[in-house]
Amino acid sequence: ARKIIIDTDPGQDDAVAILLALASPELEVLGITAVAGNVPLHLTQANARKICELAGRPDLPVFAGAVRPLVRDLVTAEYVHGKSGLDGPDLPEPTMPLQPRHGVDFIVETMRATPAGVTLCALGPLTNIALAINRAPDILPRIERIVAMGGGFFEGGNTTPAAEFNIYVDPHAADVVFRCGRPITLLPLDLTHQCLTTRARVERIRAIGSPVGTATAALLDFFERFDEAKYGTDGGPLHDPNVIAWLLKPELYGGREVNLAVETGSELTMGMTVVDWWGVTGRAPNVLYLREVDADGFYDLLVARLARLPAG
Ligand code: BDR
Ligand code: CA
Repeated sequence: ARKIIIDTDPGQDDAVAILLALASPELEVLGITAVAGNVPLHLTQANARKICELAGRPDLPVFAGAVRPLVRDLVTAEYVHGKSGLDGPDLPEPTMPLQPRHGVDFIVETMRATPAGVTLCALGPLTNIALAINRAPDILPRIERIVAMGGGFFEGGNTTPAAEFNIYVDPHAADVVFRCGRPITLLPLDLTHQCLTTRARVERIRAIGSPVGTATAALLDFFERFDEAKYGTDGGPLHDPNVIAWLLKPELYGGREVNLAVETGSELTMGMTVVDWWGVTGRAPNVLYLREVDADGFYDLLVARLARLPAG
């Protein structure tokens, strides 16, 4: 199985991504590192543990990472995710422990201990991953690939007209990551906005009939409320599970190797991911930028996998 670390700020769609990973034998989740993003860190780390318990994996180590972005003040998104970050289902407070080590230490030490390499799945602001790279550049060869949800160029931003939330919250961290020289796959808004949580799709998930199916449907019911009104669609975009789905079934996705640079200088376009789709800069590609997705195939995969939980 492919060894992964999930770095995340749950977040309803983060939660669904974690569930998808834990339901998939192709992936070995070594640990989960929480980052401040959708809500502050004390909530994202607790939410990550709630989801592990829901999945039947209280044994999985969950770590708290960075409490704030590298340079800028933390911006959160309670207006999308609710006060807890995981509003919707009625999940119990977690009883599994939070690991005592810092999330960035876990990333660094795990990389050093894993010569075969680890894939980093980034579902939130890129603060923890940038900190790990800056602190321990010796781990770079051990980063097999970074698969991240974030950015967008053709669809416009969801947090400012120019920027997507994960990149906007910590553009300086994103800049470190996109310039790190390791293979990166990006699943931007251009793609996730095609993966709508339509009523029919949410009902398929509810019809699984298990606690995981019921909780996931409740997560998506809550999550889509804001976006549906914003975009005027049947359902809202489902972002983060695409990171895991790409690892499982890359044939569902299409895109191109391009050069991508992050705006960190101008307030107007702060956090914009500038994509050289037509190769006009001559700068070397640093990202596999995915713009196409078979959304029905994605939901088929999601429903089939969620039906396998809880584990064990
Ligand atoms: C991203 O921001 C968060 O609100 C979601 O969890 C996702 O990672 C979408 O812009
Ligand atoms: Ca997220």
